[in-house]
Amino acid sequence: MSNRGAFIAIEGLDRSGKTTQVATLQARLESEGIPVKLFKFPDRTTAIGIMIDSYLRSQSELDDRAIHLLFSANRWELAGAIEQLLAEGTTVVCDRYAFSGVAFSTAKGLSFEWCRSPEVSLPAPDVTLFLDISPEKARERGGYGDERYEKEEMQRKVRDVFRQISTEFDEARWVTLDAGRRREDVAADVWNCVQPFTSGLASPLQRLWNK
Ligand SMILES: Nc1ncnc2c1ncn2[C@@H]1O[C@H](COP(=O)(O)OP(=O)(O)OP(=O)(O)O)[C@@H](O)[C@H]1O
Ligand SMILES: [Mg+2]
Repeated sequence: MSNRGAFIAIEGLDRSGKTTQVATLQARLESEGIPVKLFKFPDRTTAIGIMIDSYLRSQSELDDRAIHLLFSANRWELAGAIEQLLAEGTTVVCDRYAFSGVAFSTAKGLSFEWCRSPEVSLPAPDVTLFLDISPEKARERGGYGDERYEKEEMQRKVRDVFRQISTEFDEARWVTLDAGRRREDVAADVWNCVQPFTSGLASPLQRLWNK
């Protein structure tokens, strides 16, 4: 049996450099000859994703719980594809994942436990790299945009929930990186974390928050 691919999640606050780092990581993996596929959540191209996109751009209103479940459903509708790729030996890199879903909805005031429950049993990343940045530093990067959650107070609350989530994972599965540094320095740390996974894994894929 050949190894399965590794499942890597890049999480972080808005403007922390997730998309920048995911692109750099993809290029590095490809240059090493490692098959890789990127996913970006929310995936705004699916029927569910179109509803999420409309909500994020404040073109529609939805109950807080309804939008939370749509974000989760957007991950579930792609979970099968992720599992399939991993089984085939492809490394999967996600730009945001379930942790963002929990962090944003909890920051809005929903209970942490309630927010987590639809995410339970999703494919679990083998490692999550959390790009941490102060809201002040994130603001310097061109400022927050016009989308719904791009406000400093909200970002502060989201950061607190991410910190809470990090305490539930051991150090091997959740790595916090200082994303306030130069792109190249962050990318070097990202590669250091991912490199040990590049030969794939013999261990089965785990499920998120399964007791
Ligand atoms: N280390 C860095 N130092 C300075 N600027 C950076 C760094 N990394 C990314 N940037 C710039 O900051 C902005 C946000 O980066 P990026 O889009 O990668 O962040 P993101 O976390 O994906 O944001 P979002 O949450 O909005 O999707 C971009 O203009 C990018 O070029
Ligand atoms: Mg991005």
